[in-house]
Amino acid sequence: MKKTNLAIFLSGTGSNFKSISEACLKPDYPAMIKLVICDRDCNGYNISKKLQYKTILIKHLNDQFAFENKVTILLKKHQIDLICLAGFMKILSSEFVKNWKNKILNIHPSILPLFPGLNTHKKVIQHGMKIHGSTVHIVDEGLDSGPIIGQCAIKVNPDDDKNKLAEKLKKYENMLYVKSLEKFIRKNNITENKTSFKKAKKEYNDVIFSI
Ligand code: GRF
Repeated sequence: MKKTNLAIFLSGTGSNFKSISEACLKPDYPAMIKLVICDRDCNGYNISKKLQYKTILIKHLNDQFAFENKVTILLKKHQIDLICLAGFMKILSSEFVKNWKNKILNIHPSILPLFPGLNTHKKVIQHGMKIHGSTVHIVDEGLDSGPIIGQCAIKVNPDDDKNKLAEKLKKYENMLYVKSLEKFIRKNNITENKTSFKKAKKEYNDVIFSI
């Protein structure tokens, strides 16, 4: 089985990156991480260095064109098939997205198309939502608007604030990304082998997954 070569782009704590990394270590998971790109010195950057991935920090580069040029050279050099944005805070140009059409995935902390953009946990509380969730989608030229691969939903409790909600959602997001990525790769016939989602469903009774 040929594994799909991933590049992970991140700017933050790196929990999604970490869970993808753990999944990729399994022999039957259809992907492997070949490159990690960070736009700032962050926890995810340190994790990646520790795990000994090829980790590139491109910071203080406000020129979008120069940033993406550098990134493109790296992606080619490392024969990347698919990019996973995992808490990456830079918006990619439409030119870049066009060049990588259907080859960039993102995880967004809301049940899209509700609440694209920033501050989703706060917005969920402000709107009195009873459920919240997260979405893994293909990146297109719009803001958090590409085709949806998988979503999860959790209950919002009356005493949840934005930090509590973010923390509660994170562990399910980590699982959602791993499973959605796997589905995306298999659906695109990069590999054939299917694994089941039974264990996850049993373990997490207070969350709905649809992948
Ligand atoms: C996640 O909440 C994700 O939905 C959003 O950024 C956060 C990244 O978290 N895009 P982490 O850095 O993977 O822990």
